[in-house]
Amino acid sequence: AGPGLLQGLRVIVTAGPTYEDLDPVRYLGNRSSGKMGFAVAASAARAGAEGVLVAGPVQLPTPPGVQRVDVRSAVQMRQAVMEALPADVYIGAAAVADYTPRSFSPSKIKKTGAGQTLTVELVRTPDILSEVASREDAGLKLVVGFAAETDDVAGYARQKLAAKRLDLIVANRVGVPGSGFESDDNAMTAYWNGGEREFPPGPKVRLADDLVALIAERMRA
Ligand code: PMT
Repeated sequence: AGPGLLQGLRVIVTAGPTYEDLDPVRYLGNRSSGKMGFAVAASAARAGAEGVLVAGPVQLPTPPGVQRVDVRSAVQMRQAVMEALPADVYIGAAAVADYTPRSFSPSKIKKTGAGQTLTVELVRTPDILSEVASREDAGLKLVVGFAAETDDVAGYARQKLAAKRLDLIVANRVGVPGSGFESDDNAMTAYWNGGEREFPPGPKVRLADDLVALIAERMRA
């Protein structure tokens, strides 16, 4: 992104997976590597933003000029985001768990003698993006969500744009090579009320710059 595009703005980016602990040795996670969110945070910083990166458990270096807060679970990610507010822009690139175990077992869950199944009860996690988008005191001028979809990408993305009252949603296809989770590349389309932009597929690092440029554009709109 061009230098100065987000000059003086405070931008919060979430990245990576969350891990929801079952017991001291096991957790529920997902395949997010954090690459997309880290690239966006790096790009925002290059564009002059004061960047705060709330990162789930990932193996990535902190981008230059970015303040990083490491978290593990969805509940911890929510807490870190709320503490980082107010901000001008929020970008939710993290793959936040939708469910977490109802209870954490302080001792390792053992195989029981009887039966071949184990039932784990899960409860919904807080929806960080919806909460951020609905907070009047957050100071936000633009709230950006990501949508990871396997099919009807446009349909689900537009649904989330409306349901979560977002300014912009970035849909990426998952479950195909060269896009989505873990890959260095992505294929993304952004949707807003009254418009959309399909970015040329390619490296996440370049797509992050394209997204920052679009964010700067939408903030002027
Ligand atoms: O990390 P990488 O390996 O580079 O992969 C990048 C990515 C595919 C993870 C990323 O580009 C992406 O699409 N992130 C969002 C993935 C996702 O979980 O989408 P979702 O449809 O479940 O969630 C929609 C939006 O709500 C997201 O902005 C998510 O951050 C947010 N959300 C979801 C659940 C929840 N409890 N709280 C949230 O804030």
